[in-house]
Order: sequence, then C-alpha cells, then structure tokens
Amino acid sequence: MPNTVVVYVTRTGNARRIAEDLASRLDTVALLIEDKVNRNGLWGYLRAGYHASTRKATPIGDPGIDLSGADTVVMVQPIWASGIVPPLRTWLKAHESELRGKRLGLFTVCKGSETGPIRAAFEKEFMKLTAFGGIKERDDERTQSAAFGAFVNSLS
Ligand SMILES: Cc1cc2nc3c(=O)[nH]c(=O)nc-3n(C[C@H](O)[C@H](O)[C@H](O)COP(=O)(O)O)c2cc1C
Repeated sequence: MPNTVVVYVTRTGNARRIAEDLASRLDTVALLIEDKVNRNGLWGYLRAGYHASTRKATPIGDPGIDLSGADTVVMVQPIWASGIVPPLRTWLKAHESELRGKRLGLFTVCKGSETGPIRAAFEKEFMKLTAFGGIKERDDERTQSAAFGAFVNSLS
C-alpha cells in the first residue's frame, strides 16, 4: 500500500516482529517509537503498569517521520494494563493534528486480554480507527497470519 507508515512500541520484541510482518505486507518498513523509560526488571514492569493504568504520556525517542505524505498510519503495541502503552500516547499527542483525516490502524499483542475494549478506549481518547486487530502470544502461526491478513484488508 503506497504512502503507509508503520510505527511500533515494544518492550520484549513481540510488537516489533508483528510490525515488521505488517510492514512487509504493506510494502514499507516498521519504525520504532523508542520508550525512554527504563522498563527492565520487576520495577520496570511495575512502572510500566502504573504508567499505563494512570494513562501517562512518557518520554520517547520520536522516529521523526514526515507524516504529511502518508495516507495510512499503522500503530503496533503490546497491551499494558488492558490499555494503550504510554510511549504510543506521547507519539499520538505529538502528532494528533497530522493524523486527522488519514486511515489509521491499531494492532495489538497481549497475553490474554480481550481486545475490544482497547479499540473503544483508543477511539474515545484519540480518534476513529479504520482498522483494528490483535493477536495473543499463544496464537499459532496460522491464526496470527490470518489476523495480519484481515487487518491489512480492512485498511483499504
Ligand atoms: C506492564 C505490563 C502490563 C501488561 N498488561 C497486560 C494485560 O493487561 N493483558 C495482557 O493480556 N497482557 C498484558 N501484558 C503482556 C504483554 O502485552 C505481552 O507480553 C506482549 O506480548 C508484550 O509485547 P512486547 O514483546 O512487544 O513488549 C502486560 C505486559 C506488561 C509489561
């Protein structure tokens, strides 16, 4: 798909793998929104949960993409505390006006949460999504691939 941007946030690499798969299906590359907060170890995990559940926007390294030419933007994130990850929130707040009017997709990975409420929470806080998808870590390859395909189809 021409003029498509894929960005992702990850802590342990699952969202990176997904973003790279989606990006290759969309004929583009996946760009990291770098989480500048230390999320390592038990304290890092607890801090991540706290920041997510209190809907913080935390410091990031912005990939600095020119969004003006993009018609479609895909965001990939793990689910933290049943919600949006704080680094994605920071990026969205910084680029909200540039994102208006574009086709937007959100794809999530998690251990076992229901993903429907994430879509609703995202749309309430930010803007309407054209496409939404998600997988669980334990889903087999066929299930994951089907979810990627359905997501890419619903973007167009
Ligand atoms: C702070 C924190 C909170 C999490 N909360 C949830 C949750 O509410 N539901 C869930 O299914 N998984 C939850 N997870 C698990 C991650 O979503 C899951 O391991 C994901 O695959 C990690 O992706 P990553 O490798 O890109 O970081 C949480 C992980 C972290 C670090």
